[in-house]
Amino acid sequence: MKITAIPPELTWDIRHRVMWPHKSIDYVKLPEDDSGLHYGLWDEELLLSIVSLFPEGDDAQFRKFATLHEAQGQGYGSKLLEHLFTEAVKQGVRRIWCNARASKAGFYRKFGMTETEVRFEKDGERYVMMEKWLQPPQTE
Ligand SMILES: CC(C)(COP(=O)(O)OP(=O)(O)OC[C@H]1O[C@@H](n2cnc3c(N)ncnc32)[C@H](O)[C@@H]1OP(=O)(O)O)[C@@H](O)C(=O)NCCC(=O)NCCS
Repeated sequence: MKITAIPPELTWDIRHRVMWPHKSIDYVKLPEDDSGLHYGLWDEELLLSIVSLFPEGDDAQFRKFATLHEAQGQGYGSKLLEHLFTEAVKQGVRRIWCNARASKAGFYRKFGMTETEVRFEKDGERYVMMEKWLQPPQTE
């Protein structure tokens, strides 16, 4: 098992298969993909889990976190998320956040993320914005 940086194209298949199998492949490509940092967890040559990070100043949003169905529940997503937080610290990110599917809030809480008051619904799915301070906010 290894975790590496990957080009955006390598995230599209898992995003599509796991998150939006009923939409077209173009639906999962983000206009921001070229400016993001993408990470993948591999078993040998097989990509199992992916996540994308979009830094903006001191903040960074992670999006499109997914593990192949057959590989879920085996700790891969947790390893990838830990790696993502470490990478974000190296990039100087202070606050990391995501729009979590409400059903996944408990999972993110295990990593020290907390729910904000921002909640919304999209395509019949409920979301809550969650955040974690990796380094204290700059005061001056
Ligand atoms: C969210 C997601 C990326 C997590 O990836 P994953 O590889 O399954 O993550 P993990 O295996 O580390 O953890 C998943 C669950 O398995 C549990 N788990 C981890 N290792 C385990 C093990 N060895 N044995 C049993 N359970 C285990 C975790 O505690 C976690 O439980 P929880 O969901 O009740 O909190 C994955 O579920 C996914 O792709 N979901 C569909 C897309 C999605 O919802 N993305 C997130 C949008 S916010």
